[in-house]
Amino acid sequence: MPENSGSSLKQLALFAGNFLRHPYMLGSIIPSSRFLVDQVLEPVDWERARLLVEYGPGVGTVTAQILKRMHPQARLLAIETNGDFVRYLRRCLPDPRLHVVHDSAAQVGAVLTRLSLPAADYIISGIPLGSFPDALKAEIVGKTRQALAPGGSFLVYQFTARVLPVLERSFGSVQRRFERRNIPPAQLFVCAA
Ligand SMILES: C[S@@+](CC[C@H](N)C(=O)[O-])C[C@H]1O[C@@H](n2cnc3c(N)ncnc32)[C@H](O)[C@@H]1O
Repeated sequence: MPENSGSSLKQLALFAGNFLRHPYMLGSIIPSSRFLVDQVLEPVDWERARLLVEYGPGVGTVTAQILKRMHPQARLLAIETNGDFVRYLRRCLPDPRLHVVHDSAAQVGAVLTRLSLPAADYIISGIPLGSFPDALKAEIVGKTRQALAPGGSFLVYQFTARVLPVLERSFGSVQRRFERRNIPPAQLFVCAA
């Protein structure tokens, strides 16, 4: 993380406090472990990727690692519904390649159009999709599929496999992975069109 990204203690307090207020939207009481972050980002071709989108950046645990690894000319669009996290990220990650948008992942297509951004090479999702109502789950996965460039991938991490059927209906290939070194242990899905 950059030096001015805020202390981990501050991040933990902000994240846990928001979990107590919005448990259903956060899905976890603490941010992802470095083991999970590394495994989520493992499929990314950093030389090729020019537009990455992240759903649900929270306090920026994955975001900071994407910024560290991505090409100097690449851009990262982070879409987050929680206003506290949006303000925190804008203050603590002042990287000109990062756009933090206060909106829902369901609006990904509209946000890309509004910002005149092209289709995404990778969309990385930490939102608790599996707990969402079926219609919202299907809407977000369908809009994600449309927002991806040819050859693009949807990288999903979750604490259950409930999202698998909708991923398999929308994507030609879904590979499954597992990371036990996280609280709670996480399921990963690498989806290609
Ligand atoms: C489990 S936390 C993940 C936080 C962080 N990415 C990490 O790995 O530590 C889920 C995040 O998704 C956000 N979120 C929930 N529903 C969302 C939606 N529909 N669109 C965008 N963000 C959403 C929550 O506010 C929260 O920040």
